[in-house]
Amino acid sequence: MKPIQVGLLGIGTVGSGTFSVLQRNQEEIRRRAGRGIEIAMVADLDMTRAKQVVGDAAKVVGDAREIIANPDIDVVVELIGGYGIAKALVLEAIAAGKHVVTANKALLAVHGTEIFKAAAEKGVIVAYEAAVAGGIPIIKALREGLTANSIQWVAGIINGTTNFILSEMRDKGLDFDVVLKEAQALGYAEADPTFDIEGVDAAHKATLMSAIAFGIPVQFDKAYVEGITKLSGADIRYAEQLGYRIKLLGITKRADKGIELRVHPSLVPAKRLIANVEGAMNAVVVHGDAVGTTLYYGKGAGSEPTASAVIADLVDIARLHGADLAHSVPPLAFQSNTLGAAGKELPVLPMAEVVTSYYLRIRVADEAGVLAKITGILANAGISIDAVLQREADEVGGEGSTQTDLIILTHDTREGDMDQALAEIQALPTVLAPITRIRKEELN
Ligand code: HSE
Repeated sequence: MKPIQVGLLGIGTVGSGTFSVLQRNQEEIRRRAGRGIEIAMVADLDMTRAKQVVGDAAKVVGDAREIIANPDIDVVVELIGGYGIAKALVLEAIAAGKHVVTANKALLAVHGTEIFKAAAEKGVIVAYEAAVAGGIPIIKALREGLTANSIQWVAGIINGTTNFILSEMRDKGLDFDVVLKEAQALGYAEADPTFDIEGVDAAHKATLMSAIAFGIPVQFDKAYVEGITKLSGADIRYAEQLGYRIKLLGITKRADKGIELRVHPSLVPAKRLIANVEGAMNAVVVHGDAVGTTLYYGKGAGSEPTASAVIADLVDIARLHGADLAHSVPPLAFQSNTLGAAGKELPVLPMAEVVTSYYLRIRVADEAGVLAKITGILANAGISIDAVLQREADEVGGEGSTQTDLIILTHDTREGDMDQALAEIQALPTVLAPITRIRKEELN
């Protein structure tokens, strides 16, 4: 059978990796796919660099639309990123009857409903294994391997940049700003690392996992997103003393009234495997009612790890090309006619309805009765305390200090109740600085 013909839009880090892995493993990949997979065309604004990567093996063009217009191309691989031109090109490729493979989590988390609908109408596949956790086959695991389960929750370290920063803060006792500069110097963080450090990249990925896990439409606009920029070295140290590590988690959970979808720093018990995922590595834990807890670990970014996911999608497409897609795995795991039926799907819950436990760090005047007042407010709000740690004033504020930090761990409570209690505590004259609140996930 003729090799399936692929056009790459963008041949940067992931595109080059895709090209070289396909070349290196072509024989095994052909035996798996049942036919060859050939990158026939590459579009890149930097045509000179693109030619250096592909040599004579593929035609290099400067205009992506030349690929979309070529009737010989079966699959378009979009590796441009972002919501702008990438969205237009993906929709044009679908309209031209091409299958699409994309690593673009931002595009699918925000415009997925429109894109998957267009693909279904045209009878083509939009595949996106590389969009979540790079080389870890988490989309396949959630969509196929765990299909028997009623999934209860998914929690993941799904941004390598922030995990690297948090690991360095803990290992070296440094503050966020210092480590961010180091991460940029090492090339881990982008020159503009906003999407990574503010949690947006992780929220794009969590949004996709949430849709697949729970059979709801992609709803990035309903995700709660909080990054790591306000974390201090002190919180990481206090957490450690209490037996926890702080990780930026993407969490989506089935609750009584709906689905939780949130990204924020979280205390995780140090004994959990996921708490020990260090540096730029990714890991996702999925809890299903039948299988229990499963863990997926690996490289969440990088040239060949991401190419590994892109090529897995190409193999799926090579096997299905020309077949009746009505029988293929639905892009969001659930049949599209069961997604987003008004009033039928579970709503994404507002943050006030989320139930979790908390770490609180409260800078207080070191006076009699301060702790009692605070615990009284928590008790009135029905918030149960799990542990309290009080530092020596000297340790916190230096010799002769009259201030200290109270660290309180709570049991599960509604976020709305915690908000109210914290507003009351913050208003106490003996509370001397903005309260730090970090959510805590036991993941058991
Ligand atoms: N910037 C991401 C990360 C990789 O740091 O994990 C691509 O999503």
